[in-house]
Amino acid sequence: KSICLDYSNVDKYINNQELQRKIEDNKQLLETCMKSKATDSDSMGWINTYHSNDEDMLKKIEDKAAEIRENADVFILIGVGGSNQGARAVIKAMGDSKVDILYAGNNLSPAYLNNMMDKIKNKSVYVNVIAKNFATLEPGITFRVLRQYLEKTYGEQEAAKRIIATGSLNGSSLEKLGKMKGYTLLPFPLDVGGRFSVLTPVGLLPIAVSGVDIRQLLFGASEMEKSIHTASLNNNDVINYALIRNILLEKGYNIEILGIFEPLMEYFNKWWVQLFGESEGKIGKGIYPSSCSFSEDLHSLGQYIQDGQKILFETFINIEDMESSYPIPLENEDIDEFNYLNGKDFSFLNKSAYDATVKAHYEGGVPVLVLNVPKLTPYYMGQLFYFFEFGCYLSATILGVNPFNQPGVEAYKTNMFKTLKA
Ligand code: PA5
Repeated sequence: KSICLDYSNVDKYINNQELQRKIEDNKQLLETCMKSKATDSDSMGWINTYHSNDEDMLKKIEDKAAEIRENADVFILIGVGGSNQGARAVIKAMGDSKVDILYAGNNLSPAYLNNMMDKIKNKSVYVNVIAKNFATLEPGITFRVLRQYLEKTYGEQEAAKRIIATGSLNGSSLEKLGKMKGYTLLPFPLDVGGRFSVLTPVGLLPIAVSGVDIRQLLFGASEMEKSIHTASLNNNDVINYALIRNILLEKGYNIEILGIFEPLMEYFNKWWVQLFGESEGKIGKGIYPSSCSFSEDLHSLGQYIQDGQKILFETFINIEDMESSYPIPLENEDIDEFNYLNGKDFSFLNKSAYDATVKAHYEGGVPVLVLNVPKLTPYYMGQLFYFFEFGCYLSATILGVNPFNQPGVEAYKTNMFKTLKA
């Protein structure tokens, strides 16, 4: 089974001829993208699932993760942007709680840092610092704090055993520091950008520490890779997704909301927002990626989606079987007036809310795409990651922007460094 796209609820906004015409107009470009491989350029490493993960690498990651799970109370993932989002998405969705996983180096708040330092007191701590370009301020300076803490707490030698540095192994300052101090080094693949890195050692070590089966995750991604690259141009979910987004944008639907009915997936949404935001939003172009966690946000942005400006469309991730249930407790007296739900289950309530929302938004003027996902497992998460990475690459290429750079993040940095280096 595979995840699959249902675009029947965009029929009022796009007819099938329009979609077929768009495929025809972009035929050459689509064919080139479908044939792309990891070795084609210095940013395409993500496109072949096992390109950065041979058997030795997977074994190294699994062994290190087992050691950490054995010895750590707390595992701190230092990283920002693409360096932490993918792992966090999987860990929050399905990691177990054996090791407490904390996130650092993704903000500059002293309150956040104080809080974390308090939490780790008297705990056995391991740290994974992840940075492609170690010049990034947030992870770089936070790592200084944590490495000093570990050295003070355990001594230099033991601290080095507890630090894993994932960085560019091309003479970067993180690599130099790691070699000097004796840390375990993992490669941040040179041909993979941060937001495309979840299925490389960048995401895989923290995910393995959380107890999730990384082989299943990669297997799901590789199955999606196979199915995308073998399907025809006219019957290909990822092409349809990328093209429908672009057609909707041309019609003035400037905002896409990724909607979920499963709060466990909230950090997946954050990963998706970063992937599309940094990849597409440039040279005055791009769909603004946003996200909602329903049913909570039906009591918030739901009002705008239903009744506000008709500038947005939704993509729902519909997990068909969450393999979880909670029966509604019975009560004889109907004082709370909820007895009409007797005999039902929360899974049924959630599904009813989902069906009702899709219908209401569609009828209210919102184009709705649905990505049906059979279950929430590592295998299907792997499929989801690959589907969206490839979809983003395709969509940005059709839009005429380079998905792999992020020149827009430099402006604030220039201002900030003027002050910091003064
Ligand atoms: O997706 C990207 O390339 C960025 O979001 C980076 O991941 C982010 O800026 C962090 O970069 P680095 O890993 O170099 O610290």
